[in-house]
Amino acid sequence: MTTALITGSTAGIGAAFARRLAADGHDLVLVARDTKRLREQATELHDRHGIEAEVLTADLAQDDGIEAVAARLADRKNPVDLLVNNAGFGNKGRYLDVPMADELKMLKVHCEAVLRLTYAATQAMCERGRGGVINVASVAAFLPRGTYGASKAWVVQFTQGAAKDLAGSGVRLMALCPGFVRTEFHQRAGMGTDNIPGWMWLDADKLVASALTDLSRGKSLSIPDPRYKVLMGATKLVPRGMLGGISSRAGRKYGPEHRAQR
Ligand SMILES: NC(=O)c1ccc[n+]([C@@H]2O[C@H](COP(=O)([O-])OP(=O)(O)OC[C@H]3O[C@@H](n4cnc5c(N)ncnc54)[C@H](OP(=O)(O)O)[C@@H]3O)[C@@H](O)[C@H]2O)c1
Repeated sequence: MTTALITGSTAGIGAAFARRLAADGHDLVLVARDTKRLREQATELHDRHGIEAEVLTADLAQDDGIEAVAARLADRKNPVDLLVNNAGFGNKGRYLDVPMADELKMLKVHCEAVLRLTYAATQAMCERGRGGVINVASVAAFLPRGTYGASKAWVVQFTQGAAKDLAGSGVRLMALCPGFVRTEFHQRAGMGTDNIPGWMWLDADKLVASALTDLSRGKSLSIPDPRYKVLMGATKLVPRGMLGGISSRAGRKYGPEHRAQR
């Protein structure tokens, strides 16, 4: 029996990881801020799949939240075999629309928490000579797309660099770069999604299946859908300025409440 720790497990992509890993028989450590929701999820996964699911309430935008999760990852008596750094969010608005406190919070959750949790997990994994880390980035990592894209570019660079450094240790690291997935993400950020074409939406369960296959194949970067593989290949041919125009519009249309504020 192995154990996986998933941050942001209660919704969207994290919940899809939890469903799939529980169905595969892994025990889970579920991390998010909403304790009630975490407990309901743990009970449901335990009842359905017979696995043990621990609840760890933590806000990864806070030092004590990061430290609590890092301590769980460092617990040598209850080892974690797979870490999925998935918790994340979008800020509504473009550069200068977003308050600095929200920008810094994004860097804390997307970069600092990912750095510190990966460090805690891989130290323990290297001692055992096995383990895996999936850091959820985004295809936005490859596009000029505000602080969100910049933070996800950091996730990709960091993960691939660490994967290279740990090659031969038995520990695998992989950056996962999804395209648009229907989750709570856009609604939470107050982003309108009507300008995103239907073909661009990915299914969270298929995304997770593809990510786990890529990890088992030892990939350090996973772009889990042929549509996005082609699209990301094509971006290399499009001038950077034009790319910036297209990418900053897609999925960043403001919700009605935000339009009213502007
Ligand atoms: N959806 C997309 O189109 C898309 C595309 C590419 C990449 N991604 C990336 O995929 C990841 C998951 O996104 P999603 O679409 O599944 O989002 P989601 O449906 O909004 O779920 C976000 C999860 O993260 C948790 N979370 C948010 N802030 C947190 C914090 N400060 N501390 C701890 N947990 C926190 C939430 O639970 P609580 O609120 O209870 O904490 C929730 O479980 C993110 O990193 C996102 O950037 C998403």
